[in-house]
Amino acid sequence: MKNLRHPTSPPRRSPAKAIMPLLLAGLLAVGGALTFTGTAHAGTTLGASAAEKGRYFGAAVGTYKFSDSTYMSVLNREFNSVVAENEMKWDATEPQRGVFNYSGGDRIVSHARANGMIVRGHTLLWHAQQPGWAQGLSGSDLRNAAINHVTQVATHFRGQIYAWDVVNEAFADGNSGGRRDSNLQRTGNDWIEAAFRAARAADPGAKLCYNDYNTDGINPKSTGVYNMVRDFKARGVPIDCVGFQSHLGTSIPSDYQANLQRFADLGVDVQITELDVAQGANQAGIYAAVTRACLAVSRCTGITVWGVRDCDSWRSDNPLLFDCAGNKKPAYTAVLDTLNGGTNPNPTGNRLRNEGSGRCLDVTGASTANGTQMIIWDCHSGANQQFTQNGQALQVMGKCLDAPPNATPGTRVQIWDCWGGANQQWVFNGNATISNVQTGLCLDVNGAATANGSAVIVWTCHGGANQRWVRA
Ligand code: G3I
Repeated sequence: MKNLRHPTSPPRRSPAKAIMPLLLAGLLAVGGALTFTGTAHAGTTLGASAAEKGRYFGAAVGTYKFSDSTYMSVLNREFNSVVAENEMKWDATEPQRGVFNYSGGDRIVSHARANGMIVRGHTLLWHAQQPGWAQGLSGSDLRNAAINHVTQVATHFRGQIYAWDVVNEAFADGNSGGRRDSNLQRTGNDWIEAAFRAARAADPGAKLCYNDYNTDGINPKSTGVYNMVRDFKARGVPIDCVGFQSHLGTSIPSDYQANLQRFADLGVDVQITELDVAQGANQAGIYAAVTRACLAVSRCTGITVWGVRDCDSWRSDNPLLFDCAGNKKPAYTAVLDTLNGGTNPNPTGNRLRNEGSGRCLDVTGASTANGTQMIIWDCHSGANQQFTQNGQALQVMGKCLDAPPNATPGTRVQIWDCWGGANQQWVFNGNATISNVQTGLCLDVNGAATANGSAVIVWTCHGGANQRWVRA
């Protein structure tokens, strides 16, 4: 069994916390199928809900926040994995050549152990945040210093790291699909595999990851990484996982899940390693979509958000799951609901929020006339967005959601007097789609549009974000 070995005298902790690393170890060590079988239970924290799905849910942390009680209470309550945002990087751990400082990293590891969390290691080699002395080296001198760094740091933390980002951000942006120019790259194209071999020798129990950004969809950069991983697997270079940072703006690549899957199909785990999402109309929907994609890929072993609260983020666009006071944001609820398979332990309302647009299912103009068509609109508290389930009917303002008789793909959905027909019965599917009993077609935002007023139709079910709806 891989990893998560603990020192012989762990600090005292509650029984529930004490079993968490073992539970996670058992769930995470299997490499392949990670499906959890007890899904009837719905967790009430990110970590607990992810663990029920055989995954971890982590946050990047900094020890300079450890004296902030709000920060610590959210961290300890919600997360079962941590990564050092800065404290395990080269400039922090080897400020002078051959002089190592593990104080920050050790503090994070010991906090994790005391609180039943696993630890991701970030990062052994990166072109950025190198100490000044390394920036001035080149050639074999730099290569030797870099490999020695990998060996020393991985040895120091041996047995305490679930997965290491051995190499970070080594591929170029743009369409080349090639490596990024850097002092490390100029030591020879084999520097990455040399780093992975050194890391494996130093800590055989840690999963070894390659980590990068702008590789979240299928594009030339991610394909460059894909080709490297395929080559490593073919030649026996030790690589176990690929990290997808997922620093996202106001949209998510449509092939996000397919991209994770193609890497998993190479025989490596995949992890979402630095997730944060711009706060816009659809922050919650994008967070939900990322979570859903990870759950749908059996080798996606966990998700890490890059910070705890908005004020802890390196970004200024409020990209995280908690506001500065530590309150849960709608994005938090969307992630938790998704982890719980749509079962919200703390229901927040009867609206149906579309994942693709972030907008809510809405009766046009709040009209109650038969035949009034459905649209998407900004979520609000009006009665024309409040749906209650009555059997398989979805009632709104005393009427029923209705696919007109003889509806075909493209037919607009409307409201009509409730009469109990199959065209007024709807099924909530496990993948968050809602299908019509009569036609078998799914509730769909026409053309995957996102604007207010876009039409809601029935269409052949494909599970895309414009067909996924979460209670909000
Ligand atoms: O601690 C010093 C402080 O003493 C000094 O006065 C101040 C002056 O600028 O700098 C402080 O250090 C900063 C450090 O964060 C800690 O706050 C560095 O300047 C700053 O460069 C550093 O930024 C980090 C950045 O990586 C470095 O490139 C961010 O916190 C961190 O979130 C970010 O994380 C990266 C991942 O490692 C890799 N993927 C992208 C991600 C976001 O950029």
